[in-house]
Amino acid sequence: MKYVYQLFLSVLLTATAVGTALADTIAIIGTGAVANAIGPMLTAQGHEIVFGSRNPDRDDVRELVAKTGAGAGATTPAEAAADADIVMVAVPWDAVETVVRGLGNLSGKIVIDLTNPRIIGDDGLRNWAVDSSNAEIIQGLAPGARVVKALNTMNWRTMVDPEATGGPVSVPIVGDDEAAKAKVVALVAGMNLEPIDLGPLRYARIVEGMYLLWGNANTLGRGFNYYLRPAP
Ligand SMILES: NC(=O)c1ccc[n+]([C@@H]2O[C@H](COP(=O)([O-])OP(=O)(O)OC[C@H]3O[C@@H](n4cnc5c(N)ncnc54)[C@H](OP(=O)(O)O)[C@@H]3O)[C@@H](O)[C@H]2O)c1
Repeated sequence: MKYVYQLFLSVLLTATAVGTALADTIAIIGTGAVANAIGPMLTAQGHEIVFGSRNPDRDDVRELVAKTGAGAGATTPAEAAADADIVMVAVPWDAVETVVRGLGNLSGKIVIDLTNPRIIGDDGLRNWAVDSSNAEIIQGLAPGARVVKALNTMNWRTMVDPEATGGPVSVPIVGDDEAAKAKVVALVAGMNLEPIDLGPLRYARIVEGMYLLWGNANTLGRGFNYYLRPAP
């Protein structure tokens, strides 16, 4: 079974690398650090990127579009999402509800949630900020969307250059739609990261909690990257 999965992944990656019919239109909502890191990497995989911005005419957004290249563009979040197969939510965690409500009908689209809800406690450490998870909140707001939680457990610098960490970096992925997760697995593997499907969306709270531990470890001077070693 493991080998069938690897074969499937390798076919997907090869096809993606040569820019075949597997190319998708991906809306990245938000134009900050994560969008700057991920946009050009997804273009390199053959995908068409459109950024969703509250102000798509801003100079920094134009620069982001230029550096992303290969037919990238920027427009309003709603217009970006309307034409996309995949919508990446890369906005501040507490803006998610407002932003997702403004994206229109997301039914059938893959929605990748990268956000990290957290509040800072009196001891300076990150703490839970929502009762369930942001990914499940998004699913509640857009019941027809195929929500996947991914790419929230590391810094954008690691996304850009995982090899600089000195070893493989795991990316926990959860979601209820298996085909959507397989697509996200391929995207993440194409970034030289190691995707690991950890089950249904109800585990998103744990994946979001992984960020709390990761961020707190950095705060305490004990920074690490996740490497979930596959069981034999
Ligand atoms: N930074 C990392 O290394 C990292 C890694 C993994 C996950 N994440 C998560 O990914 C998300 C994005 O992180 P980021 O570092 O890219 O954030 P960021 O640099 O602050 O950028 C967030 C973007 O969201 C858009 N936005 C929409 N509504 C907003 C609002 N109400 N207030 C402020 N910005 C708003 C803005 O784009 P426009 O102004 O163009 O609308 C802004 O550029 C966060 O939830 C973060 O927790 C971050």
